[in-house]
This record gives sequence, structure tokens and C-alpha cells, in this order.
Amino acid sequence: PAGNAAGGEKIFKTKCAQCHTVERDGAHKQGPNLSGLFGRQSGTTAGYAYSTANKNMAVVWEENTLYDYLLNPKKYIPGTKMVFPGLKKPQERVDLIAYLKQSTA
Ligand code: HEM
Repeated sequence: PAGNAAGGEKIFKTKCAQCHTVERDGAHKQGPNLSGLFGRQSGTTAGYAYSTANKNMAVVWEENTLYDYLLNPKKYIPGTKMVFPGLKKPQERVDLIAYLKQSTA
């Protein structure tokens, strides 16, 4: 299904923004800045101190990998230090990913 980026922005602001920024050269907070996320290997954002688990997880972030990760981050990356339960609703993940694709480009 097609993602609704405007809906995804609301989800990001309520569930992700306390730990992540999206704009280019945005600050690292508790989690890494997400600028340039699509097409990048996990655990490789400069200047951010990842857990060993996230650093060693060799996956390229794109629609499908984010869709699976955001369902249950701790299952997808055992040992991650991202404390987030996941988004159970497929449409929420699809909308959030549409927002991330545009906002981190
Ligand atoms: C890591 C997205 C919510 C803290 C990550 C990564 C992504 C991501 C894609 C991996 C980055 C990479 O490999 O370069 C999101 C999204 C969220 C969300 C879309 C909302 C749905 C949160 C929240 C927190 C958080 C609420 C803090 C309570 C972290 C931390 C890491 C991380 C600490 C690094 C994990 C590690 O090194 O093990 N996040 N995140 N995130 N996130 Fe989130």
C-alpha cells in the first residue's frame, strides 16, 4: 500500500522525535540523526556511538528492512539499545517510512 507521509510525520513527532532528528547535520540525540538513512548500511552514521549489536548488524536501510525493523526493533537487532516497542500496525509503518524517505533524503 502507498504511504501517507503527512500521517507518518505525526507518528514520527509523537514516537520517534524525542530520540531522533531527520534533517541534514541534525543533532544526535539519544539515537542517531537519521539524515541519509535510505541506502545506508546500519550502524554507520558518523559521530554516533552505536551498540555493538547495531554496529554489527549488516543491513541496508530501505523500505523493506525498515518495515521489518520497526515492527519489533529488539527482535530484528537483538541487543539494540533503542528502547522502542515497535509499531504493530502495517499502515503506521508504511506511513512512517514514506515520511522518513522524504525527510531524510
Ligand atoms: C537506532 C529509527 C524511536 C533510540 C535507530 C535506527 C533507526 C531508528 C532506523 C538505526 C539507525 C542506524 O542503524 O543507523 C527509529 C524510528 C523510531 C525510533 C523510526 C520511531 C518509530 C526511537 C526512540 C528512541 C530511539 C523512541 C529512544 C527512546 C535509538 C537508539 C538507537 C536507535 C539509542 C541506536 C541503537 C543502538 O546503537 O543499538 N532508530 N527510532 N529510537 N534509536 Fe530509534
